[in-house]
Amino acid sequence: MSQNTIAENKKRHDLSGHSEVWLFGYGSLIYKVDFPYLERAPAYIEGWSRRFWQGSHDHRGTPEAPGRVLTLIETPGEKCTGMAYKVTPDVFEHLDHREKNGYLRFTTPMTFRDGSQHEGLVYIATEDNEAFLGPASSKELAEHIGQASGPSGPNSEYLVKLQLALEQLDVHDPHVYDIYQDLINS
Ligand code: BEZ
Repeated sequence: MSQNTIAENKKRHDLSGHSEVWLFGYGSLIYKVDFPYLERAPAYIEGWSRRFWQGSHDHRGTPEAPGRVLTLIETPGEKCTGMAYKVTPDVFEHLDHREKNGYLRFTTPMTFRDGSQHEGLVYIATEDNEAFLGPASSKELAEHIGQASGPSGPNSEYLVKLQLALEQLDVHDPHVYDIYQDLINS
């Protein structure tokens, strides 16, 4: 699969009949909100976990020295809590470009804290994309993230901002927290 997912994402969902679409954010979309939204609220999706298993060539690393950013990995029984945004469909032009390094849009149900549910979209970098790096120990991930940097800034900033944003949402994600601890104690 090509690393640049812009064209593929355009083909995947016909949003022309929609005036608004829910988007689930689990990583940088929680703390880097550089797009307009109509409404936002914490929500979770079921059967997925955040993992720093995706390489970043264009934001938190370079083609020669990719950083590590989040993707979602199928994990039956798990819940991933993040932030849901109600957006107009044109927002996906911007986000498809921002998240073009291997991320495809998938439809997902999301559940809000009041128990209500909506169907929406989520960006996932699947294991077959060229930038996928896969698992490593928390210490290895912290070391990698501590060293990498790219056009959007240090990779460590991504991790720290994410951890702080999760704390504000009252979410404890052991994968993220362990790497964060290893990074700040290194
Ligand atoms: C997110 O925060 O949902 C997200 C993370 C990485 C790429 C695209 C979206």
